[in-house]
Amino acid sequence: MSDAVQELHELFTSTTGHAPDGVWSAPGRVNLIGEHTDYNEGFVLPFAIDRRTRAAVGLRDDGVIRVTSTLDGTSVDWPLRELDAAQNAGEIVGWSAYPLGVAWALGERGAALATLPGVDIMIDSTVPVGAGLSSSAAIESSVALALNELWNLGLSRPVLAQVGQLAENAVVGAPTGIMDQSASLLGETDSAVFLDCRTLDATVVPLGLTLAGLTILVIDTRVAHSHATGGYAERRASCEAGAAALGRSSLRDVSASDLDRALEILDDVTFRRVRHVVTENQRVLDTVRILSEKGPNAIGALLDASHVSMRDDFEISVPELDLAVETARAHGAIGARMTGGGFGGAAIALVPHARVAEVESAVKVAFAGHGFTEPVTFTVTPSQGAERNSTKING
Ligand code: GLA
Repeated sequence: MSDAVQELHELFTSTTGHAPDGVWSAPGRVNLIGEHTDYNEGFVLPFAIDRRTRAAVGLRDDGVIRVTSTLDGTSVDWPLRELDAAQNAGEIVGWSAYPLGVAWALGERGAALATLPGVDIMIDSTVPVGAGLSSSAAIESSVALALNELWNLGLSRPVLAQVGQLAENAVVGAPTGIMDQSASLLGETDSAVFLDCRTLDATVVPLGLTLAGLTILVIDTRVAHSHATGGYAERRASCEAGAAALGRSSLRDVSASDLDRALEILDDVTFRRVRHVVTENQRVLDTVRILSEKGPNAIGALLDASHVSMRDDFEISVPELDLAVETARAHGAIGARMTGGGFGGAAIALVPHARVAEVESAVKVAFAGHGFTEPVTFTVTPSQGAERNSTKING
């Protein structure tokens, strides 16, 4: 057992008075490429990172679900049989909406909540919150995997990803796609997950970063963002409107050869939203092909083009993200782009090992020069998806 798992195990035991049945963990994610394509039934290429959320979970005999966060020490509990009514009344709020939302969503996928044993869940995390690295999907995936096992539900990982998405959409209230939970549940070491968000077919794509001498540097701008409000939902609505105007059920069915007609019939803003999604889908396919033909040193231009498309066509970048990307490129990154939903959060840069420190300090100097809040920079490693880390130990 790692130290972090052992510590959580002990804290759970001293807090609840009984040992957990196990500790499960799930990672945050970085999206290598394929942004705002998931809810358009397109392609994405995220990977699981080496920052994880851990959930220590133990069964109770009173039908109550109690969730505790080690971040602020607060607990929330509900009788499982009342969870659906609480959800309908909008009473599941704050951070507890993620773990309780998962329990509720499992009910929607057939778990007989009223008859299942209650659970204590204690959550601990090293995924930075608000950085666009899917700390929310990490909570959802760790809890979903744990409850699936302890309640003997027998749901597959792709279904558990849908459970996490349902919790996020219906309980948290963010109209997000399936990418983050899929990366967290399906990720593998040194690899990305190539996901077709229409069929949900997932392929593990080796990245070979170490062999190529490359590192992924995350630059967290610390500009706060939320997908439950404003811009994200608006972009999603534009995409749906664009697809409808073109007579298609989703932008997945619009190709580059349709763009001339799209330019004629769509207003300028909707056209540019559509063009981003259409070209971004192609960039994902190109990235997967180039990775296997030439390796990661050859994908820099695709990352750059993705950023330009998000900045100019989809308009979800912010000055801090643009500065992070430009500075990283000027100081040795072979490609860089904002990652995640946008309007703040983080950028990623693909950087030769030897130049990581130079990029980090150049970005900090540039931010200071612009009067921006100092960014947080750190490297990430493509890592294993959600897993069980311990079983019950007595004493
Ligand atoms: C957020 C959402 C994802 C996806 C990205 C944009 O991370 O949770 O579903 O839409 O934004 O690619």
